[in-house]
Amino acid sequence: MAPPKKQKVANKSQQARHNPPKQQTFTGIIGTTSTRSTQKISETQQQAAPIQLQQSILDVFCRAFHGDQRSLDDINASIQKVKGHLFLREFSHAFAKQEYLDAYALRWSASRALGYLDILLHGDLQDFWLGEITSRPDDNNNAADAHTSTDAADPPREQSDSGACRIACIGGGGGAEVAACAAAALALSTTTFDSARSGPRPLSLSLSPSSKAEIHAIDIADWSGCVEKLTTALTAPRELSAYASESAKAANKPLIDPGCLQVRFSQRDILNADEDALRGLLGGVGLCTIMFTLNELFTDSIARATAFLLALTDVMALGSWFLVVDSPGSYSEVKLGNGEDAKSKRYPMKWLLDHTLLEVAGGKNSKWRKHVSDDSRWFRLNPALKYPMDLENMRYQIHLYQRIESEGS
Ligand SMILES: C[S@@+](CC[C@H](N)C(=O)[O-])C[C@H]1O[C@@H](n2cnc3c(N)ncnc32)[C@H](O)[C@@H]1O
Repeated sequence: MAPPKKQKVANKSQQARHNPPKQQTFTGIIGTTSTRSTQKISETQQQAAPIQLQQSILDVFCRAFHGDQRSLDDINASIQKVKGHLFLREFSHAFAKQEYLDAYALRWSASRALGYLDILLHGDLQDFWLGEITSRPDDNNNAADAHTSTDAADPPREQSDSGACRIACIGGGGGAEVAACAAAALALSTTTFDSARSGPRPLSLSLSPSSKAEIHAIDIADWSGCVEKLTTALTAPRELSAYASESAKAANKPLIDPGCLQVRFSQRDILNADEDALRGLLGGVGLCTIMFTLNELFTDSIARATAFLLALTDVMALGSWFLVVDSPGSYSEVKLGNGEDAKSKRYPMKWLLDHTLLEVAGGKNSKWRKHVSDDSRWFRLNPALKYPMDLENMRYQIHLYQRIESEGS
């Protein structure tokens, strides 16, 4: 696992304006929530998530991974050690200690979380969220609104009993996906999303009773300690000084109501999970993400990564979604032939992915419909965000698929 590539944002005053290509707003869904949030998001146009929410997520990362009074110098020393080990691909050393994992999450997962939140709130994912809203048992109003803008041809998804929005994040141990998915799921189902607040006060999402997110992070490395700390920071109020006023205490709400979020972590090598195990991990999820991890899997073994994608096809519910984000221009090399005749061939990750999902799985009758494919996008951080260390812009390729009934079946 290489550390995310630095995209030169150290000097925030030099940051370029956020300008992702083809950015859409979420008016279809926001229209089913509050008018204030509609205004805010369409005013900003280029930022899918309100800046207050982004700042609240950064504050959560600070509380989770910098709340134990370790000095920034100590944390930076851990970051340097992690960087050195990752550079040498010494993964077991890089993540040998909890302090290294915490340092990694504080340094790299926080900006990734903002990038992922931007992706999740982008119009690309609109059909996924609309499906979640329409399938909620108690949400008739939302269902009526949402139906107007859902593609009638989209297959309805088989639902979880709880009616919760269920998301699985493969390679999501570092916490970026957990924070982003939790914030996105709950932001979009909030009834009174308070976007009118300004300044550094944390935003508190006020949720409709039916909204609940179940997020399952799956990773080969043991990130359970980090996921636990992050979940606590997302769902607990900030610690206040003993001298805080009564009004400050009354206003001190967690970012996310603990009853609305369930986070699970499983330490698994996804390439070693057989179909039954995979069904246990992914069966019934509405969205499966694999962020900056698929190319690593292909690099490990194209054959095993392909087998994993085919098994995933069999276990993902009809109507569910698969989101792949990775570094642009990722290639994996495979050796063909033996001995002196062996030749290396390089395959772009995108080609391997499309070939497996759209051609191999299902043959002529594809089991996946491709909704989005973009070879290069940017998420650029808002210079107004405050954080005790550098944050990094993110450049990525993105591919979004929906599991459909194959015509032949
Ligand atoms: C480059 S990191 C990306 C982390 C996170 N998704 C993010 O974007 O911040 C790749 C992650 O995939 C995990 N990983 C690598 N191979 C894996 C496998 N075979 N099964 C499950 N997780 C794996 C690593 O432990 C690591 O957490």
